[in-house]
Amino acid sequence: MATPENTSHHTDTDFTALPELGDEVFTAPLARPEHVGEDWVEPAQTNYTSEDHSVWNALFARQMEVLPGRAASAFMAGLDKLDLSRGGIPEFGELSEELDKLTGWSVIPVPMLIPDHVFFWHLANRRFPAGNFIRTRETFDYIQEPDVFHDVFGHVPMLTDPVFADYMQEYGRAGWKAMRYNRLKALGALYWYTVEFGLIEEAEGIRAYGAGILSGPTEAKFAVEAQSPNRIMLNVDRVMRTDYVISDLQPTYFVIESFDDLYRQTVERDFDRLYRNLAPGFTYANSAVIDVDNVVNRGTQEYHLRGGNGSGAAPI
Ligand SMILES: [Fe+2]
Repeated sequence: MATPENTSHHTDTDFTALPELGDEVFTAPLARPEHVGEDWVEPAQTNYTSEDHSVWNALFARQMEVLPGRAASAFMAGLDKLDLSRGGIPEFGELSEELDKLTGWSVIPVPMLIPDHVFFWHLANRRFPAGNFIRTRETFDYIQEPDVFHDVFGHVPMLTDPVFADYMQEYGRAGWKAMRYNRLKALGALYWYTVEFGLIEEAEGIRAYGAGILSGPTEAKFAVEAQSPNRIMLNVDRVMRTDYVISDLQPTYFVIESFDDLYRQTVERDFDRLYRNLAPGFTYANSAVIDVDNVVNRGTQEYHLRGGNGSGAAPI
């Protein structure tokens, strides 16, 4: 329950202008390309070739083989609302117009990596920064940096859900606080286990809403159906103390009961107190099941015990 002491979130910050970063705040030193301003927004979206568009179409078709019955209904509805099946890489201006009508969000083109504070600032203003480039046939299955397919196909449909859209804005606001306490790693884990790899309990069963799951062919099956991973009900405090895997399938997924619950857990959390109490590193291993967990399925961890990625282990 909210009490007066823990509802003082973010009212102290004005997000209209890019706030100054204090000297005590550490951010990764990224060199800003000369053609972008302080907001890091590209002057225009890339002019894609017909090969680029056909790569998008092939990726889209592959996901549509896998996602029905595995993706959250909010995601499938988002694809429809934005008419993403019309073919080709969407034009961000048109996409933003549609999205603006639905939830007041827009999509803006940015270089591959942008500084954390700029990313948070855009989210806090309901702008989703999306990478411009698209992978090639050679890098079809594995890309190191998120491309336009991951960012637009994976993330943007969820922004049509009004509650999830609000959650993303809250996340951007929470980012400022995390930077001041030097707890970006913990907030990063929350993003990872919700926005990228989140699962939701629906009437028909567990479904995926995380973009990292939905934009690739293997993890949708693994996250939703495999015996190997743990599935645990999401608890924001617990998740922010949990390590995660960057370049392999996750040993553990966290499940929300609804987007309302996710939003509530985030806005009602006293992040000042949480950040003060968090250790700088993670407390829990990514495969751990702990006493306080509300466990949906305890996984066998067979995939990771057999060596995971590169070992030939089947994602079962
Ligand atoms: Fe992403």
